[in-house]
Amino acid sequence: MLAVAALLAVAVFGYVQPGKTQHMPVRILFKNNGGKVIFSHLTHHRDYQIDCAQCHHDRQSAPVTENDSALACGSCHPNEFNEQFVTEHIDSFKDESYCVRCHHVEYSSVNFDHDEHTGFASDCSDCHHGAEIEPEPQKCTNCHQEKPVNGLLSMREAGHESCANCHDDMFDKGLSSCKTCHNSVDMTKYQGDYTSCSDCHDVEVRELVIPRMNAFHDQCLSCHESMGVGPYGPDECNQCHITR
Ligand code: HEC
Ligand code: HEC
Ligand code: HEC
Ligand code: HEC
Ligand code: HEC
Ligand code: HEC
Ligand code: HEC
Ligand code: HEC
Ligand code: HEC
Ligand code: HEC
Repeated sequence: MLAVAALLAVAVFGYVQPGKTQHMPVRILFKNNGGKVIFSHLTHHRDYQIDCAQCHHDRQSAPVTENDSALACGSCHPNEFNEQFVTEHIDSFKDESYCVRCHHVEYSSVNFDHDEHTGFASDCSDCHHGAEIEPEPQKCTNCHQEKPVNGLLSMREAGHESCANCHDDMFDKGLSSCKTCHNSVDMTKYQGDYTSCSDCHDVEVRELVIPRMNAFHDQCLSCHESMGVGPYGPDECNQCHITR
């Protein structure tokens, strides 16, 4: 009786208690144009002792751990960052904590002290137009809109060009210098702000966030190469890809 009760207790406990690694696949089969790849997922974690977060860098705020689930790499590393990705990607995430992985900074107000600056300039017209355009000094946004209109500079271009008359140096250091003028929104939680990557970055998205095949190849091969284990050399494709 005692033995049966004990076994029953164990069974019930085992049933109620969620498996510690229930979310973790044992093996993963990738079907792709290079030939199928079988990836020994559990072995990599358990036997080769690699932390989940070393491969799954889903969020900065909460790294993937043993009893957590993880996102498919393709949620963030699609084949192409095309229109389809832009419309569909928002639904691939469980909550907004993932968004800031890419939408990582937004600018709010500009850090500009007008009163102080009137003292730095010799005349209001160092920044404002003369009377032929601005009958009297006023907000630039009365004329310069968010986007260029009929050849009239956007507010961004107008602001940058005007500030650069004295602060050329602030634009020399690329993206790292933007924060001298721009205050940033707190992005620990995504709040629906959206500025296109290209508004700040000069390069295409695929150079910032690598596409699918590169994501796999980079991660698998660079770890193997750095540890001197597993397949990574140019002649070792077939140790991962089953081609027949
Ligand atoms: C460590 C294992 C590994 C090695 C070694 C490897 N690959 Fe891959 N390869 C992968 C994985 C994983 C994928 C991604 C599969 C997917 O997209 O689902 C992939 C994807 C591909 C794709 C598919 C791209 C597509 O659009 O579907 C091609 C082509 C490819 N590899 C070629 C190669 C070549 C050529 C080599 C040798 C120089 C090589 N791979 C070496 C693991 C490997
Ligand atoms: C050596 C790298 C590596 C380690 C370590 C690793 N994973 Fe993975 N994991 C992967 C790759 C690669 C995939 C395939 C993702 C895909 O298909 O896009 C994957 C897939 C998954 C998936 C399925 C995701 C999906 O929706 O397709 C889950 C869940 C997961 N891993 C959880 C974990 C957990 C939990 C750990 C730690 C206990 C862990 N992984 C450790 C590389 C790793
Ligand atoms: C939630 C989004 C997200 C997911 C999911 C994700 N990545 Fe990334 N990954 C990024 C971003 C953003 C970058 C570029 C910025 C950076 O390097 O941190 C990146 C960079 C990389 C790089 C470039 C080198 C590096 O580490 O900086 C590799 C390789 C990579 N990812 C592979 C993967 C693989 C493999 C998976 C699945 C196991 C994966 N990523 C899942 C967002 C993601
Ligand atoms: C260093 C550049 C600079 C100088 C010098 C300058 N301004 Fe401005 N001024 C601006 C900018 C940029 C704005 C728009 C700020 C905004 O919209 O928040 C502005 C806005 C204004 C506004 C509209 C304020 C509002 O909130 O409606 C007035 C009025 C104004 N300036 C008057 C002056 C006068 C008068 C002088 C000369 C004594 C002067 N400015 C000198 C750059 C300058
Ligand atoms: C009443 C409308 C109006 C206001 C207000 C205005 N602009 Fe303009 N801005 C113009 C027009 C029109 C042009 C085009 C002038 C031309 O092509 O000669 C222009 C052109 C410019 C240019 C291009 C170079 C130049 O000087 O021609 C800069 C830079 C500029 N504005 C900055 C500003 C700044 C900074 C403010 C606010 C301090 C401001 N503008 C306020 C109408 C305005
Ligand atoms: C007429 C020249 C002139 C123009 C035009 C001008 N500034 Fe300045 N600005 C100065 C001077 C001089 C200082 C004080 C010395 C310094 O820190 O460079 C200053 C200081 C600053 C600082 C503080 C710098 C720091 O390191 O803390 C900020 C921020 C700033 N300006 C923003 C702007 C913005 C935004 C514009 C355009 C709307 C602008 N300035 C246009 C002359 C100018
Ligand atoms: C010298 C000060 C200064 C520097 C440095 C600066 N900006 Fe700006 N920026 C401005 C001003 C002034 C405006 C126009 C005012 C506004 O839109 O509130 C502006 C507007 C913008 C806007 C449009 C914001 C909106 O709300 O529509 C973007 C995007 C932007 N800047 C990006 C950048 C980037 C990226 C960098 C770094 C490469 C940078 N800025 C550096 C002063 C600066
Ligand atoms: C892998 C990086 C990545 C992640 C993670 C990501 N985004 Fe994006 N998102 C992009 C890119 C890239 C674009 C569009 C192109 C651009 O900005 O140049 C975009 C565009 C958008 C747009 C504009 C859509 C349109 O129709 O113009 C919204 C809104 C958006 N994302 C919201 C989100 C939200 C909400 C999340 C999280 C649930 C999220 N994104 C996660 C990369 C990402
Ligand atoms: C409001 C401006 C702004 C926007 C919008 C923006 N970034 Fe950035 N990004 C920055 C700044 C600033 C840095 C830091 C550069 C530095 O410190 O050298 C940066 C750095 C990065 C890096 C690190 C690698 C590098 O090139 O320095 C990646 C990856 C990145 N951004 C991806 C993205 C993606 C993807 C998007 C669009 C979904 C995006 N960013 C939108 C301003 C922006
Ligand atoms: C963080 C390091 C790391 C990453 C990332 C990684 N591996 Fe490995 N891999 C190892 C180690 C360690 C071994 C063990 C080699 C040994 O013991 O000889 C290994 C071995 C292998 C082997 C041969 C033995 C086996 O377990 O099948 C294959 C095939 C392999 N990895 C495929 C992959 C693929 C595919 C990926 C990407 C999806 C990947 N690995 C990502 C560290 C890594």
